[in-house]
Amino acid sequence: MKKPPRPRRSQKSQIEIRKQNLYDLVALRDDIIRTLCDDDLLLQIAEKSYIHQNGFVKIVYETLEESVCRLHIYPFGAKADLNIHDHRWSFSSVTICGSLPMSLYEIDVNGSTEILHTYSKTENGGHEIQSRSSCEAIRTDLIQVPPLQGYYMPYDIFHRIEAVEELTITYVETYPAVSDTCHLVNIEDRSGEGSIQPEPLTVGATRQALAQIALKIQELV
Ligand SMILES: [Fe+2]
Repeated sequence: MKKPPRPRRSQKSQIEIRKQNLYDLVALRDDIIRTLCDDDLLLQIAEKSYIHQNGFVKIVYETLEESVCRLHIYPFGAKADLNIHDHRWSFSSVTICGSLPMSLYEIDVNGSTEILHTYSKTENGGHEIQSRSSCEAIRTDLIQVPPLQGYYMPYDIFHRIEAVEELTITYVETYPAVSDTCHLVNIEDRSGEGSIQPEPLTVGATRQALAQIALKIQELV
């Protein structure tokens, strides 16, 4: 599945934000309430979930074949990822509460203001970042995704979630990886290897987070 860095495509197609079906979120609420009564399941979820270094909580809720359902909680001021990036997989996202501001970018490999890196997982569970070329990231759009709205993000669209201005919770489903590598764009050279795995959440913290999400879905009903 190894692929060389992809040439950047022109990002004419913008992300389309669509209203989502409330009943799907109600079904998720009911599923979460059942999960809250199952200590074994809570432990399994806790072991895969963690607080990201940028301050948001990532709950890996369920894996269905190769798709992974996650719940992300961004406290006020949290940033998802300071790098402009794409992913190894496409995903869809629905906002449960708050509002997720996201910048979209087009990458010009003839530019010289930033550095395009590849990001690859290594066999020991870590990752490796390599600088590839200079480039320029051109912001083409800033979208806001309010509650009950969602979008589909193809794997090769460069984006960055900006600081949230209120508590924001999203439900994210990631689809099977289509590449071994994705990309980061940063003004600084971020080359290097990393292996730091964040501490998993405790069962108590997972229970509290899931209960908060069920309540926020209830507020939409
Ligand atoms: Fe992303």
